[in-house]
Amino acid sequence: MTAPVVGVADTRDEYQRLFDIYWPIGVGVFLLITVLISFVVLRYRSESREFPKGRAESHWEEVYAAGIAVVAAALLFFTYRTMGDLPLDQNGDGEPAAHVSGGELVKVTAARWRWRFDYPKYGVTETGDTPTLVVPVDTPVRFEQTSLDVVHSFWIPERRFKVDAFPGRTTKFTLTFPKTGYQRKGGECNQYCGLRHSYMDFDVNVVTRAEFRKWIESKRAEEARP
Ligand code: CUA
Repeated sequence: MTAPVVGVADTRDEYQRLFDIYWPIGVGVFLLITVLISFVVLRYRSESREFPKGRAESHWEEVYAAGIAVVAAALLFFTYRTMGDLPLDQNGDGEPAAHVSGGELVKVTAARWRWRFDYPKYGVTETGDTPTLVVPVDTPVRFEQTSLDVVHSFWIPERRFKVDAFPGRTTKFTLTFPKTGYQRKGGECNQYCGLRHSYMDFDVNVVTRAEFRKWIESKRAEEARP
């Protein structure tokens, strides 16, 4: 086993940590509201059929609003901090913060309704109805993504990673894949893009470095054939 690459965030871990903050807060707020509503409905149920006149003032409303604001601000803070740590450049005008040089480069082209993966270093292209994104394990893979028509979204649920593909813009990001394995339909389009949106997926195959080289060689041989 090679050591994990330093400087490249494991998106799965990063987002899992964020989820671990959101989830208990979400459950807590849900329970609090359920209990409070049940309490108020039972305790302050009125026998009278008259509409109440005026409005009872209570400082609890302000406390409640302030509490919500604090929770929302904290979640925003954690979310933006996590996103800032990720090697992602949405505008395509610079390098992702955590980008490391070396590794592999894959150019992703989304179009209705398929994906194309180009490996410019090797002159190899992978496309088709359900192409396979082949990447070496434990290696920073830098992606440069664009779209030929409408907005699509590159999503690999296992990596907890999703980013939109825009026409006329290049989005850059770096992902690492710490475990080898083949995932059928491991990637999909997550932005509604028309009739065949739900079929716009790809397989993900994370292989050893040696297997990756072998795959590149076989692709080259295949493409050289007339
Ligand atoms: Cu492409 Cu949905």
